[in-house]
Amino acid sequence: MAARILDGKSIAATVRGEVKEAVDRLHARGVFPSLHVVLVGDDPASAVYVRNKARACEEVGIRGVTHRLPATTTEAEVLALLHRLNGDPEVDGVLVQLPLPPHISADRVIDAQDPARDVDGFHPVNLGRLVSGREGLVACTPAGCMRLIQETGIRLQGKRAVVLGRSLIVGKPMALLLLAAHATVTICHSRTRDLPARVAEADVLVAAIGQARLVRGEWIQEGTVVIDVGMNRDEEGRLCGDVDFEGASRQASFITPVPGGVGPMTIAFLLRNTLIAACARRGLPPPF
Ligand code: GUN
Repeated sequence: MAARILDGKSIAATVRGEVKEAVDRLHARGVFPSLHVVLVGDDPASAVYVRNKARACEEVGIRGVTHRLPATTTEAEVLALLHRLNGDPEVDGVLVQLPLPPHISADRVIDAQDPARDVDGFHPVNLGRLVSGREGLVACTPAGCMRLIQETGIRLQGKRAVVLGRSLIVGKPMALLLLAAHATVTICHSRTRDLPARVAEADVLVAAIGQARLVRGEWIQEGTVVIDVGMNRDEEGRLCGDVDFEGASRQASFITPVPGGVGPMTIAFLLRNTLIAACARRGLPPPF
């Protein structure tokens, strides 16, 4: 049976449409939400991501401001900028693009963020809220993956979910969201023994381990929902995910393509988080 494709581009367009409607309602009340993105150094991939974020903001009517700082910027200078943004009542969301140059501590930068404006959901306060099952800002990629899973119509309650990868950005928050949705969650990583056996147990597989086509089609049981967060280059320089798409498509019930699956969802959920932050900070009712 051939898997159905989860079209991230089109689902993300729906989410962006929902955000735009909410932004329009805020504009009508004289509220103009804003997102400030901080880019330090000249990592070419980060430059592309940041440009895409700015463009996406513009399209839905969020004011997007990019702070481009040279690679020689000191940690103290980045922290000073964050303190300034934290004190500005017009700033709703702040995101510092990762990775940072090696002389800057990502932990200290994340700690200096205002949790109320932390649209990445990386601040320990927001992660703590997620662990505690409380309301907070949730990391964009895992939140986008949950929406993709929701689109399949499957009920997560009691299902076996396997997450490959334990990063702060994807793996850990993803596992917590699946747990909150009452799935039975296994987190696998580079040291996991017998990965094929763990993958074979999955009703839902979320792959975020960063290795081109690591997951073979034959590892996957029939009917699994496959969410591929990977964004890798293969030997021929082609963009590919963590899952062998061709093989997995023969087994899975639903699968995300790379590109065009999870990627577009991340930006859509960044915009969504910005609106959630804007309303919460300003004492307005939640927009969604
Ligand atoms: N670099 C790669 N992904 C992300 C992300 O989701 N947020 C930030 N700030 N940097 C990233």
